[in-house]
Amino acid sequence: MSFRATILTLYPEMFPGHLGLSLAGRALERGDAEIEAVNIRDHATGRHRNVDDTPAGGGAGMVLRPDVLARAIDAVSPEGDVRPRLLMSPRGKPLTQARVRELADGPGAVIVCGRFEGVDQRVIEARNLEEVSIGDYVLSGGEPAALILLDAVIRVLPGVMGNAASGTHESFETGLLEHPHYTRPQVFEDREIPAVLTSGNHRAVDEWREAESLRLTRERRPDLLEDRKDQLAK
Ligand code: ADE
Repeated sequence: MSFRATILTLYPEMFPGHLGLSLAGRALERGDAEIEAVNIRDHATGRHRNVDDTPAGGGAGMVLRPDVLARAIDAVSPEGDVRPRLLMSPRGKPLTQARVRELADGPGAVIVCGRFEGVDQRVIEARNLEEVSIGDYVLSGGEPAALILLDAVIRVLPGVMGNAASGTHESFETGLLEHPHYTRPQVFEDREIPAVLTSGNHRAVDEWREAESLRLTRERRPDLLEDRKDQLAK
């Protein structure tokens, strides 16, 4: 059974984007994942096919209409579709590797890409949309965020990553940032590969990597160490 993503967007041309290439591209070709982009405007009515309107209460920007979006959602995800419905939004819960794994374990996702100032709150509630953010910065629309989420999900689907072990030592999988990597040549612009890595002592290599992971995490992401402590305390 393959992972099936349906994206609701005003810019379907933005898909599959980079996901048509490389690792994800091969997964799509094999049918391990499927991506379908649907234009929200196809579900607008009236002479002008308007999808947005001015915000109630006044203010800048435009708001995506609930009736149009609800029709689009119902058309691609009829009753009985068990896929989670996500709304890409800077106001959402931050995406984590754990949520990425959960999504990859499931049947797929319906992903709504917001534009304008936002989406009418009533359709978020009425269609049970889970708001997801990819970070504390604001994009001009949810499309790049959806591409990033799908990139993260597709690479952890069964059979997609060449070397099965190559996911589990990574940043956020271990709770720490990953250690630095080196390859040939032995000397690059007067910089040598740390001697321990070419010593042949696998225990010493593991210990060095663990220490480097800890050092980098302490320096760059002390919040991850706090999260870890909380988990160990539980
Ligand atoms: N849309 C605009 N900004 C976003 C963000 N940071 N994450 C997800 N969707 C967004």
